[in-house]
Amino acid sequence: MSTFRNLCIGSLLFGTTLLTACSESSATDSGSAAVEAKASTIALDVYKSPTCGCCTSWVEHAQTHGFTSSIHHADNLNAIKDEHGIAANMRSCHTAVSKEGYVFEGHVPAKLVKRFLAAPPEGALGLAVPGMPLGSPGMEMGDRFQAYPVVLLNKDGSFQLYEKIEQPSQQY
Ligand code: CU
Ligand code: CU
Repeated sequence: MSTFRNLCIGSLLFGTTLLTACSESSATDSGSAAVEAKASTIALDVYKSPTCGCCTSWVEHAQTHGFTSSIHHADNLNAIKDEHGIAANMRSCHTAVSKEGYVFEGHVPAKLVKRFLAAPPEGALGLAVPGMPLGSPGMEMGDRFQAYPVVLLNKDGSFQLYEKIEQPSQQY
């Protein structure tokens, strides 16, 4: 995979080159993975833009760590986020939804999705990594890394810190 395929922000930096690189990958990620799902995998519905390469990279990260994804290329991603109650300041590029209806917004490390699903906190809506921190899963850019919070979203609209990721190694 090319380097800038990974980066949504790359669309600002690389313009049409990024879109070209991304459209190649978007043609092949439309859900055949679900068919190949093993019994041990956890199914997610992932809502993303067809032109966002970092979303595809996150899906690959999730697959590597035991998830299978059905990809949905929604016309209006904000409507999906509205529907699931994800506050504007918690939003990122893609939204993953578990069978139980929990949401995982943005570049949440797969290991934390698993930890959450193993023991969902009372009243929880899901987890979010707001924005798109450099070096988070699917946002790899060499060895650049920004510390970032993984936020626990509650159904009542409140939120709190779930885990602070300060080192790349904490993500795997
Ligand atoms: Cu992204
Ligand atoms: Cu994304």
